[in-house]
Amino acid sequence: MLGNFTYYNPTRVHFGPDALDQLAGELAQYGPTVMLTYGGGSIKRSGLYDQVLAILQEADKTVVEEPGVMSNPTVEKLDEGRKLAREHHVDLILAVGGGSVIDYAKAVSVSAAYDGDAWQHFYLDMADPEPSTVIPVGTILTMSGTGSEMNAGSVITNHEQRLKIGHVYGPEVMPKFTILNPELTFTVPDYQVRAGIYDAFNHICEQYFSGEDDNTSDYLSEGLMKSLVHASRIAVKDPTDYEARSNISWVCTWALNTLISRGKSTDWEVHMIGQAIGAVTNATHGMTLSAVSLPYYRHIMPYGLAKFARFATNVWGISPDGKAEAELAKAGLAAMSDWMDEIGVVKHASELGLTPDMYDDVVKGTFLLTGGYHTLTPAEVHEILVESE
Ligand code: NZQ
Ligand code: ZN
Repeated sequence: MLGNFTYYNPTRVHFGPDALDQLAGELAQYGPTVMLTYGGGSIKRSGLYDQVLAILQEADKTVVEEPGVMSNPTVEKLDEGRKLAREHHVDLILAVGGGSVIDYAKAVSVSAAYDGDAWQHFYLDMADPEPSTVIPVGTILTMSGTGSEMNAGSVITNHEQRLKIGHVYGPEVMPKFTILNPELTFTVPDYQVRAGIYDAFNHICEQYFSGEDDNTSDYLSEGLMKSLVHASRIAVKDPTDYEARSNISWVCTWALNTLISRGKSTDWEVHMIGQAIGAVTNATHGMTLSAVSLPYYRHIMPYGLAKFARFATNVWGISPDGKAEAELAKAGLAAMSDWMDEIGVVKHASELGLTPDMYDDVVKGTFLLTGGYHTLTPAEVHEILVESE
């Protein structure tokens, strides 16, 4: 295990078909005013909105609604929400939705008490990594993928500046509680389900493909990847298979709740490129990752060959017998590529609306990180975009 670290995750997760029964007990721990924030209407169509509102009313809460959080929430929406939270002296933000709604709730939570330009302060300057004034956030998760329900990440998009930036705060910004009923994810459109599965898979890869030491986090990662691959194959054929969907949900949560990054430098370059693509196309997050993953991993594989060979054997079950390390490593990526086809994720950035005239902006918007096996140059980011066409 690399270096010194602290592991602390304060989010209480209520999991399973009856998880919503725990909401009333959670609400009792907070003051009277609750900001109820949600997306574009899926919770109204599913009936969840009515259920949650009834529980809030039963608990005598004053409800301040903040609907209409879009996928890839914007800085303009953030400014609207933090003003509302401040005006109403909100005691709890209840985020009901997927990663976008939860990320949004965290951004409002940290910035409601701040007077200045929130985008500049919390995203461009990455100031206040551990803000002292936060409004507690609770979540009811309706779509699995990001892990936002049990982490401190919050990604906001500024379309005008063509930037999409994630700020990972400290534990005080992690949701205080999360209600996770996998059945709520049954109504998520197929495209989003697949994107969510790939998002979580890539979260694990971003943490796995770094370091050369014998590290417990890597063994945990391999287990999570195997479970996700197995369950995803079932879920894409039968989206209402509870066993598969519940395993997917739980893997997604554990893929990015800080556990498997302990003792690791971690990479995150696929996310950097994916977010830069998202900033110019507003494409679905998980699909931006799947579009560039294979070209990216082909670029870095020579620098981390041993780990790629281990990935082939331990995740994809490929026998190392009679194979040179490079051949084994390549077979691992080929197996991953086949699985991506099987679950149906985007492999070409052009399918997301990315056109060559946007490449310069994507290259400019891609932060180059140093934790993985190889630090990309801007020219290599450009090559990866071309290879993903
Ligand atoms: O807005 P509604 O109507 O709710 O519809 C949503 C949205 O259109 C729909 N949906 C969600 N649950 C549903 C449902 N439709 C029917 N039934 C349900 N039960 O799905 C669509 C996508 O939702 P969204 O929240 O945008 O997706 P996701 O969970 O993938 O979140 C994406 C955002 O999270 C950020 C991404 O960058 C992106 O902005 N990420 C956050 C991370 C974190 N906090 O750690 C890490 C990730 O890497 C990621 O960057
Ligand atoms: Zn992601």
